[in-house]
Amino acid sequence: MFVFLLASFGLLSASITNATPLENRAAVDTCLSDKKVPVFASGSADYTQAIRPFNLRVTFKPAAYAVPKTVADVQNAVACGAANSVLVTAKSGGHSYASHGLGGEDGHLIVDMRNFNTVTVDAVAHTAVIGTGGRLGNIATSLYSQSKQAISHGTCPGVGLGGLSLHGGYGLISRKYGLTLDNILSAEVVLANSTVVNASTTENSDLFWALRGAGAAFGIVTNFKFKTFTAPENNIVFQYSVSPSSAAGLSTALNALQDFTRNTQPPELNMRLFLSGFTTFSGVYYGSRADFDKLMNPLLTKMGISNGFGSITTNSWLNTLTSFSNGALVQTSPYATYETFFSKSLMPEYLTPAAIDALSTYWYNNARTNSRSWYLLFDCHGGTQSAITNVSADATAYAHRNATFKMQFYDRVSNGYPGSTYDPSWMPFLNGWIDKITAASPAGTNFGMYINYADTSLSKDDAHKHYWLGHYDRLVSIKGAYDPKRVFEGPQLVGS
Ligand SMILES: Cc1cc2nc3c(=O)[nH]c(=O)nc-3n(C[C@H](O)[C@H](O)[C@H](O)COP(=O)(O)OP(=O)(O)OC[C@H]3O[C@@H](n4cnc5c(N)ncnc54)[C@H](O)[C@@H]3O)c2cc1C
Ligand SMILES: *[C@@H]1O[C@H](CO)[C@@H](O)[C@H](O)[C@H]1NC(C)=O
Ligand SMILES: *[C@@H]1O[C@H](CO)[C@@H](O)[C@H](O)[C@H]1NC(C)=O
Ligand SMILES: *[C@@H]1O[C@H](CO)[C@@H](O)[C@H](O)[C@H]1NC(C)=O
Ligand SMILES: *[C@@H]1O[C@H](CO)[C@@H](O)[C@H](O)[C@H]1NC(C)=O
Repeated sequence: MFVFLLASFGLLSASITNATPLENRAAVDTCLSDKKVPVFASGSADYTQAIRPFNLRVTFKPAAYAVPKTVADVQNAVACGAANSVLVTAKSGGHSYASHGLGGEDGHLIVDMRNFNTVTVDAVAHTAVIGTGGRLGNIATSLYSQSKQAISHGTCPGVGLGGLSLHGGYGLISRKYGLTLDNILSAEVVLANSTVVNASTTENSDLFWALRGAGAAFGIVTNFKFKTFTAPENNIVFQYSVSPSSAAGLSTALNALQDFTRNTQPPELNMRLFLSGFTTFSGVYYGSRADFDKLMNPLLTKMGISNGFGSITTNSWLNTLTSFSNGALVQTSPYATYETFFSKSLMPEYLTPAAIDALSTYWYNNARTNSRSWYLLFDCHGGTQSAITNVSADATAYAHRNATFKMQFYDRVSNGYPGSTYDPSWMPFLNGWIDKITAASPAGTNFGMYINYADTSLSKDDAHKHYWLGHYDRLVSIKGAYDPKRVFEGPQLVGS
């Protein structure tokens, strides 16, 4: 396991040499104790539970583990790390695919934000102040219980607000209300020098720009103020099962879907194609059944999907969320859901017919015959009528405004803990799929990739290039202003 992780991050990369000397660890422990910052002591049951990441393939050993209760505790923790040359990492839900919430490598001081989990709604202003350590299911439930408010966020109820919001946040109402980060009005941030500032379009606006797409490298956010909306009820939730029988059949479906998403798909229609052993096409329409049928029936015909195999129901807001949450919204503590997997992403603005054929041929020849529990998810992210694309390309650090699809490639061995291991020799399965798509695309195509689907096989330079595209240089310069000593670092973060 250990050897494999080194290999996957590149044995020679500078980040790995940051392994913290023992004397620095001891000094950090002493400092945290002197400043009365709550910790989980190494080896305790709480610690052992807390360092178990969502992705059990990617485990790390921190230098120390702080669990602050107050903003002053966060400031003190950052100061303890900085004074002793131990890199500092905020952790919210621990759902990073590369375990970036544990530092993404050994030897970091982890600042676990779990105690920052309150949700305070201003129903008149349609705003909410929300702690970064909460999980999405709990936050959605709490927002709804306070004047039926909601924000746009991802589907998995165990994901933490911190990581999701600072790097994107796409879900099944994003075409109407944008990404989670598009709804942040301001953030309260502990900087590398331990000062607390607010960031918004009027205060520290360069920091605010960087936080919305690359936040982990710039500070520890304690809470966000969000714009909320009144939760829509009577939503059409649909799911069709799809069974393309040939590579050409899949290509037909994907070409039709891409064309529809780019040109026709309205903000009220949010959906995704989930290609796996059991393929589904599902989503939510915020409108009437009659309007839904008018939009969907011609698309299904073009995609070659028989709508005879569909389920269409009308759901309340919370039931809409539950339809895609894989279990109850409310998350109990300690959190104990895990998977063991390798994942990649692509954020294409346009896949040429040749690229789609390459994707489909790989599916037919290599994926269908793979008995592991893999999937390829196409979220219909962009196009002319998506609220995500509607925000100008350079308004935030998020670099994928014009991506039509948000594609997630996922290969897992089981949902369970413990005992499952992902054999590194399986990584070429997904790497090869992306290579084929890229090779069939026009020369010079640099596809974006989504850091919220962090890919451990990317070198730091490739990570920078694909996660932030043309925004990377500006991010590095803001990093220099706010974190010149590089207190907040990780193998793939800005400035690493
Ligand atoms: C089951 C599952 C479903 C998902 N579904 C979706 C989805 O529908 N849509 C979507 O967009 N994404 C989705 N994701 C991806 C998810 O958005 C990312 O994994 C996200 O980064 C997780 O955030 P976290 O806080 O749980 O993770 P963590 O591992 O705790 O943190 C992730 C990164 O954010 C940083 N960070 C966390 N909190 C703070 C903070 N307060 N201040 C500064 N930096 C911080 C960490 O240092 C780390 O670099 C899903 C992930 C999983 C595992
Ligand atoms: C940040 O904004 C909040 C809310 O307006 C305010 O209470 C707080 O004092 C501000 N903090 C700083 C450091 O300016
Ligand atoms: C796009 O922006 C325009 C102008 O601000 C707005 O009127 C329109 O509603 C937006 N569309 C979406 C889908 O957000
Ligand atoms: C889409 O965004 C990418 C990355 O910013 C950029 O390279 C490309 O030119 C954009 N395409 C259009 C049509 O704006
Ligand atoms: C802390 O860092 C910020 C951002 O670089 C800077 O504006 C501020 O002056 C610094 N504060 C102190 C006390 O050094």
